[in-house]
Amino acid sequence: MNRNDAPKTPATFHVKSFGCQMNVYDGERMAEMLGARGMTAAAEGVDADLVILNTCHIREKAVDKVYSDIGRMTRDDGTRPMIAVAGCVAQAEGSEISRRARNVDIVVGPQAYHRLPDLIDRAGRGEAAVDTDMPAASKFGALPARSKQARPTAFLTIMEGCDKFCTYCVVPYTRGAEISRSWNAILDEAKALVDGGVREITLLGQNVNAWTGEDDRGRMQGMDGLVRELAKISGLARIRYTTSHPNDMSDGLIAAHGEEPKLMPFLHLPVQSGNDRILKAMNRSHSVDSYLRIIERVREMRPDIALSGDFIVGFPGESDAEFEDTLRIVDQVRYAQCYSFKYSSRPGTPAADMDGQIAAEVMDERLARLQAAINRHQVTFNSATVGRSTNILLERKGRYPGQLIGKSPWLQSVHITAPELGIGDMVEVEIISAGPNSLAGQPSRRKAA
Ligand code: 5AD
Ligand code: SF4
Repeated sequence: MNRNDAPKTPATFHVKSFGCQMNVYDGERMAEMLGARGMTAAAEGVDADLVILNTCHIREKAVDKVYSDIGRMTRDDGTRPMIAVAGCVAQAEGSEISRRARNVDIVVGPQAYHRLPDLIDRAGRGEAAVDTDMPAASKFGALPARSKQARPTAFLTIMEGCDKFCTYCVVPYTRGAEISRSWNAILDEAKALVDGGVREITLLGQNVNAWTGEDDRGRMQGMDGLVRELAKISGLARIRYTTSHPNDMSDGLIAAHGEEPKLMPFLHLPVQSGNDRILKAMNRSHSVDSYLRIIERVREMRPDIALSGDFIVGFPGESDAEFEDTLRIVDQVRYAQCYSFKYSSRPGTPAADMDGQIAAEVMDERLARLQAAINRHQVTFNSATVGRSTNILLERKGRYPGQLIGKSPWLQSVHITAPELGIGDMVEVEIISAGPNSLAGQPSRRKAA
């Protein structure tokens, strides 16, 4: 296999995004940009002329997945698509990628993908096409305006990067320093999305609640001000945001949860560990108590709020007793859902050089116990919604005829059978049953019929 097998001037493309929601957003923007330049989206697989792997570097497994995908990019006839590696692996490994995987034509970092068209041309000419710059001028200004969306929900990146430097995490290195997009750019993009049929926007950032900027009258605002302004867009029904850092949960944002009805009662607030010594070693700069106090204040403002978190088990030096503290905080907070991970040593991070790396079997056992606790609370949370009436926003078709799936305010998937309704409708339903991962509902007005 050599470089010359790849198409010179690709007409079709396929973007495959791994990892977080920001990668999904970036993948959509890449697709919209290439679409605006006359290229056509192709179905999954190697049939496309250009395959963009929009990668994740957060854990070793995510990186392995990308290299195994690259290895499978040969078609039955021996040819292959032009291959671009985008996202955080591109940023972290740069030109090293094309040395490890000879069939990679383009390497483009998360802050440089607006330059993809030029990189495609260069790769077509057989030239090196690596761009991992973090330019001062934002890529957003160079991207086309948002096009009409196929779905009623959309992501919108409002800030990128992280200044927190948790000792296990690659994000500050791959996504760079915290940079907020401007008030007007965000409002314009939100309005374009709503004009294109979107009813729910999820604001994105690695530390989304660290967003800050001047409003159109030159006053400094935080994310609560931005949320209140977005809520004035009349066709927009719901606002969500993710991921937040405990230290950036301002009083204003906590208050907004009690005051702004369009802000959904869901908060993803990672804590990572329930033990203060481990939190300190992680450089989290909050304690168990300060975290719990935030949760308490959010609950005072919005008693029905659903909480979500991220956890890492097996951080270097974590003892059995320290792990038990993590189980304890899960019981204290009673999360509606959580993400939990085994610690993965990442090159270049301080934790990679720490003593006391934990054996794989110990991590497996801790993860299983943690997930059992998380699932228990998730089932309890879901069961508590049975019998309640709530609004759901219908997002997609279900497996059976007439079945539609929507999301509750608490981000639960709700299945209904209602052939007369369609995607994008907001409908009041009564929750009739709950499983661990989804609920079943019935449109309320049926009861009257
Ligand atoms: N190992 C395991 N999990 C990690 N995360 C971040 N870095 C690592 C790592 N090195 C988890 C954290 C974070 C989520 C996005 O991924 O829980 O909140
Ligand atoms: Fe990583 Fe910590 Fe920043 Fe989150 S806050 S992206 S875990 S360094």
